[in-house]
Amino acid sequence: MPDQPDDSTRKPTGFTRRGFIATVGTGAVAAADVATAAGADTPPAAELPEGAELVPVTLDINGRAHRLLVEPRWSLLYVLRERLGLTATKLGCDRGECGACTVLLDDKPTYACMMLALEAEGKAIVTLEGLMRGEELGPVQRAFVEQDAFQCGYCTPGQVMAVEGLLRANPNPTLDEIRTGVSGNLCRCGAYAHIFKAGQRAAELRREEGGRS
Ligand code: FES
Ligand code: FES
Repeated sequence: MPDQPDDSTRKPTGFTRRGFIATVGTGAVAAADVATAAGADTPPAAELPEGAELVPVTLDINGRAHRLLVEPRWSLLYVLRERLGLTATKLGCDRGECGACTVLLDDKPTYACMMLALEAEGKAIVTLEGLMRGEELGPVQRAFVEQDAFQCGYCTPGQVMAVEGLLRANPNPTLDEIRTGVSGNLCRCGAYAHIFKAGQRAAELRREEGGRS
């Protein structure tokens, strides 16, 4: 099961992804460049609620430092998706139940909707985008494709991150350990049998590739 910090995170409100994109740029690359090259990324004043407090934070995401200004109430999920355009991490329940938002924090699967962005400072954050090898899929992603381990695909990023976290801690899991490893990730399409097979295949692929992610 992913870690679920005690702090509850109120659903961020105040400005929209559409507004952010219209004002700042065109998504992940633009946002990341602003964050790292031109100083902290500051939301336009018109998009913030009156009296909003912004605080600086540096987040290590997929091996890259992002300096940002955030409201203390913003969740890590909100910042990933709406501030940085890293939309592979999905918003499902927004209350720590479905696992669609699973990312790795210091290699441990964690619900990004249940963690404040400020709490993630100092941790190594890995999202699905961070498992890519350039244009190529990583072994866990390839295993999901090979095993046809999805139907609608909405839960798949979270499932992949849960398996990735499991294999980083335990490269040779049993079937039961794989089942437990993804037990915090719900699949409304019921693709569990294939997801478990994908976990087994991912372990094989990682071993064949020397344990690389
Ligand atoms: S969106 Fe985070 S657990 Fe469902
Ligand atoms: S594949 Fe549809 S929710 Fe899992």
